[in-house]
Parts: sequence; structure tokens; C-alpha cells
Amino acid sequence: MKKISIKGTGSYIPDRVVPNSYFEKIVDTTDEWIITRTGIQTRRMIEPGQALSDMATPASEHALEMAGISPEKLDLIIVGTSSADMLTPSAACILQHRLGAQNAVAFDVNAACPGFLYGLAVAQKFMQDGSHPYTLVVGGEVISNRIDYKDKTTCVLFGDGAGAVVLGHSDGNGDGEILTTDLHSDGNLWNLLYMPGGGSRIPPSHQMLKEGLHYLKMQGNEVFKYAVRTMVDSALKAMESKGITSEEIDWFIPHQANLRIMEVVAERLEIPLEKVVITIHKYGNTSAASIPVALDEAVRSGQIQRGNLILANSFGAGFTWGASLFRF
Ligand code: ACO
Repeated sequence: MKKISIKGTGSYIPDRVVPNSYFEKIVDTTDEWIITRTGIQTRRMIEPGQALSDMATPASEHALEMAGISPEKLDLIIVGTSSADMLTPSAACILQHRLGAQNAVAFDVNAACPGFLYGLAVAQKFMQDGSHPYTLVVGGEVISNRIDYKDKTTCVLFGDGAGAVVLGHSDGNGDGEILTTDLHSDGNLWNLLYMPGGGSRIPPSHQMLKEGLHYLKMQGNEVFKYAVRTMVDSALKAMESKGITSEEIDWFIPHQANLRIMEVVAERLEIPLEKVVITIHKYGNTSAASIPVALDEAVRSGQIQRGNLILANSFGAGFTWGASLFRF
């Protein structure tokens, strides 16, 4: 079976910076509460009228440029998102059009925050038999226009962004390898984190808007407990399956939902905080974008070097969770 490696990374974060002080004016919260309980200082938001593909396109172009691959060479485009430009067609088809990647098969994976890790796993399955030499995997999300700015328990947490990687077959000369991706889902817990309106059960209507059913609903403290437990379990499974110990991990990239979750998970995995890539203070929780954005920033800043062993770990609505181990 062919080995798969990351040839290039890219990301795009909107220019508009929204500090915690913005929320102090609209809900009963404080900068201090948000920083202490979440680690978030600012988040970025798109402008009205913009959509997911406005971020996914430049993120993908940056990844293609680093990989030295033209869009026509892409065989497959997978977008991990739950906030495509439209309900249909997929974000991946819109992205294919915008990139001019006419030879690629394109589809979305809706797995909330771990959508990027799900996309990596699907890409690996497609690619390892030798077919589909070049794949673009994107994780991106627009959450800023789907949260209730009257609900202090959710509105302070999220931001927008997109990250991308170009995958290719490994040449075995230090260009890395995706070692394994461990994935899980538990639909029994769907109603701890969900967006009820706008789908086929509660289609768009005046009543739906009036009741705010198009907004994200979350039981944060319940989600917190599951997130810690399942992220640790999955990371351990991924490492055990490859006989890798936590001392061997060069960089840990957890989903950036809450700094306290990241710290507890790192501690339980016995990974020191100096090895944890952290962007949550700047960008908040960008859902499926958080891992590829953090990866790209760490690569471009020189933190992550070729040959480094990376553990990425995520959790989100569904519930869905997973961990990916790869050598960059
Ligand atoms: N400002 C001030 N007070 C607040 C705020 C706020 N923004 N939000 C909640 N509070 C209050 C609550 O009302 C509560 O007050 P009470 O004690 O008087 O009832 C108190 O703070 C404690 O509330 P908790 O919900 O227990 O607070 P917690 O410490 O758990 O922090 C948070 C809440 C930040 C949401 C945390 O639970 C969390 O991060 N959960 C996980 C989120 C996550 O990982 N989501 C998954 C990914 S997202 C996705 O898939 C799209």
C-alpha cells in the first residue's frame, strides 16, 4: 500500500478582529471570564456577504503553492465543514470551481470539529491503493453567522477560518507519512451540541427564525467532560496502534475549543505544554478549521519541521472525535 504524506499546508483567517470587549457590550460577560474559562482573547469573523469558500479558496491556494501542485493535478477534494456556502451543492464542488480543479472528485464530510481529521482518513483510504495521487483536504467553518448573540454561553466561543493540506504519495525521502487516524462517533449524544433549524426536520420558516432554531445550541459543561475523556482515549488508541509513546511526539495539535480542555488532555497524555500548538487565544474555536490552521501556522513559523512527529486530536458535534498521527 502506498504511503501518504502532506506536501503543502495553507490557511486563511478573516481580517476582522473581534475582541472580548465586544461581547461585554451585548451580553452579561467579562473579558476576564472569557479568558479565564476559555483562553480566548480575540476571534476573527468574516464580513457580511462572505462565505466558507471565500476562506477555503485562498487557504487551498496557499497549500497548493507550497506543494508545487497546480489545481488541475488534484484528483480529489474533501472539505470538512458543517457550514458550506449553501445547503447544496457541496462546499467541495464550489471550491473545485473556484480553484479550477476540474479533474477532481469533490465532496464534503460533515463531522463538525473533527471534520478535517475525518477528511484525512477518507483521503488516505482513497489514496493508498495508488489511485488519486493528489488530494486536497480542507477544514473550514463559518460559525459567526450561526450563533445567538444573546446567548453568552455560546456566542463568546467561536470564530471563522479555513485550513488546507495537499496530500500526495510519499517518495520515502523525508517527506513524511500519515501513520494512522483513529475515528469515533456517538449519535446518542447528538442533542448536547446541535443546530436544529434549517434542515429537513425544521425547514426554514419565519417561526424557525423567531424561535432562534437556526442557532447553535450547546450544553457546554457536559460537552467539556466528554471532550476530555474521548480525546484522551482516541489519542492513546492512535499512539498504541503504532507503538508510539507520548515522549516521541514532537508537536501536539488539539482541537482549539477551550484552553482548559487542551491543558487537561495534554496533561493526561503526558505531553508538556511547550509541545502544544495553541491558537485559541487569537482565533477562538474555529471548529473544523482549528487543526489545519494551527498546523499551517506552526509549519510557516518554523515551529514544525520536516520529519517531526505530530499528534492531532479533536472532538465535536455528533458526537464525533478522533486522533491522527503523522510525520510531517
Ligand atoms: N460569561 C459569563 N458567565 C458565563 C458565560 C459567559 N460568557 N457563559 C457561561 N457563564 C456562566 C454560566 O451561566 C454559569 O453561571 P451559574 O453558575 O450562575 O449558573 C457559570 O458561568 C458556569 O457555567 P458552565 O457552563 O459550567 O461553565 P464552564 O466552566 O463549563 O465553561 C464553556 C463553559 C466555556 C462553554 C465550557 O463548558 C466549554 O468549553 N465546553 C466545551 C465546548 C466544546 O468543546 N465544544 C465542542 C466543540 S464545538 C463544535 O463541535 C461546533
